[in-house]
Amino acid sequence: MITVSILGGSGYAGGELLRILLFHPKVKVQEVTSRKFAGRPVSLIHPNLRKATDLLFIDPKDIKKCDLLFVALPNGESMGIMKDLQKKAEKIIDLGADFRLHKASVFTSWYQREHALPELLSKFVYGICELHRNEIKKASYVACAGCEATVSILTLYPLVKHKLIKENVIIDAKMSSSQSGMSPSLSTHHPERAGVVRSYMPSGHRHTAEIEQELSEFGDLSVAISATAIDMVRGLLVTIHTVPNKGVEEKDVWRAYRAEYKDEPFIRIVKESTGIYRYPEPKILQGTNFCDIGFELDWKTNRLVAIGAIDNLVKGTAGQAVQALNVMYGFEETTALTSPGLHPI
Ligand SMILES: NC(=O)c1ccc[n+]([C@@H]2O[C@H](COP(=O)([O-])OP(=O)(O)OC[C@H]3O[C@@H](n4cnc5c(N)ncnc54)[C@H](OP(=O)(O)O)[C@@H]3O)[C@@H](O)[C@H]2O)c1
Repeated sequence: MITVSILGGSGYAGGELLRILLFHPKVKVQEVTSRKFAGRPVSLIHPNLRKATDLLFIDPKDIKKCDLLFVALPNGESMGIMKDLQKKAEKIIDLGADFRLHKASVFTSWYQREHALPELLSKFVYGICELHRNEIKKASYVACAGCEATVSILTLYPLVKHKLIKENVIIDAKMSSSQSGMSPSLSTHHPERAGVVRSYMPSGHRHTAEIEQELSEFGDLSVAISATAIDMVRGLLVTIHTVPNKGVEEKDVWRAYRAEYKDEPFIRIVKESTGIYRYPEPKILQGTNFCDIGFELDWKTNRLVAIGAIDNLVKGTAGQAVQALNVMYGFEETTALTSPGLHPI
């Protein structure tokens, strides 16, 4: 049994970590922090956890030592305190963006600020187990990927590795409201957010840097993300437009996906000829750690359209983090992550 604590446990990612970890047979959740709700029951903020735990939130400054610390703070908050956090746990999994990029100069160009601890960047392993399982096994520090980056990288990786597509890639991402976290703002206020199909970031999305970093070993890739906020609480869908290399056929795409993912427990290739759910759809992934991937080769317009879907709060962050924990400690990789979700939902 290992002990874990969650810094930033009142947030959406922290809440999902708790939901998963409270039912992990090899993990004891020791402490959960919140500055605003210190002393109050965790189930006050995460009502789905009533009767699942009687933990109370504690203030972050009172956190004690544990085996592994999850850091679920807003982006930009962990790099300033990471040196102190290292004294609290031998292993750390950071869900935020601060340690995802390997180069401080790339961080600065995308986040418009200097990195507070550039010397630590090389100590963090990027948290996608499907790509970095062997490094994560030996890692003390893991930086989980951004949610758009997770689903885009998993969808593109076999296509790039097997040299099926040209270098220009356009990612059309449909985002849900929980991606903005729990702090309200005018743009997340219900009358402004409900019912929207809002072009939130047609260009310049920061996750571009992670996607280029992870896929660049297979050649130059030019990635453009256009993100649109839609009326959905959870979930993320990417429709990725690519140009196939000459002669690429459907069987080549199947072969590439099967070669990389046939033994992956959380990746499913979804491409049915009948039924309602013929392609990946975030609705039926809610609460699950799956990444569903589909594709269609359009020979008339010479496009290979690849489609990926996840739950942003599970495979996109908390589930990905627990998967990494399982790998770090040599637990069965699927432990506590086997929920098939709900249908209908
Ligand atoms: N939401 C998603 O879909 C998603 C997907 C992928 C990755 N992530 C990553 O997960 C991280 C957390 O995201 P979230 O959506 O859960 O955010 P959130 O809902 O805003 O929660 C942030 C948490 O951090 C605490 N906090 C904020 N500032 C703090 C500080 N200076 N010191 C200590 N605690 C602080 C907050 O509680 P108190 O203010 O009460 O302390 C809260 O518990 C982010 O880095 C994000 O990039 C999120």
